[in-house]
Amino acid sequence: IKHRSIYEAIGGFDTIGTLVQAFYKRVGKHPDLIPIFPDDLTETARKQHLFLTQFFGGPRLYEEERGHPMMRRRHLPFPITPTRRDAWLSCMKEALEEAEIKEPYREVIFEKLTLTANHMMNTPE
Ligand code: HEM
Repeated sequence: IKHRSIYEAIGGFDTIGTLVQAFYKRVGKHPDLIPIFPDDLTETARKQHLFLTQFFGGPRLYEEERGHPMMRRRHLPFPITPTRRDAWLSCMKEALEEAEIKEPYREVIFEKLTLTANHMMNTPE
């Protein structure tokens, strides 16, 4: 049996693009996140678009450009506290709503991102 990926089910590359735009719009305004992100989020958003594409079962675009994801290692230069994890997830929760990603996919996506966000924490408060 060939199962459809989450990526396909929600509408593919364009839907992930809408989600990423809605997400970084919030990141750029969030007082807990502003200090560790660059002012211009264009490149960050572009890389996240590639990453989330492959993370949810689409083409492996991130790896093609950046190599092995090693997400925890790539985040070590940034102090990611529990507060910042919560802020990241709250921006993502709102972005999933704005992008009108439907259940059950919305919840499945949020659960998977929550596990990954927990794994990214590297600094106590
Ligand atoms: C890059 C913060 C969680 C995926 C970054 C950057 C920061 C950051 C500061 C660097 C931005 C730049 O210089 O362009 C955080 C915080 C998180 C978090 C505070 C809270 C837990 C996640 C999660 C994922 C993720 C859960 C994936 C599901 C990425 C990707 C990049 C990135 C793909 C770009 C890496 C690259 O340069 O190739 N993040 N992040 N992050 N983050 Fe996160």
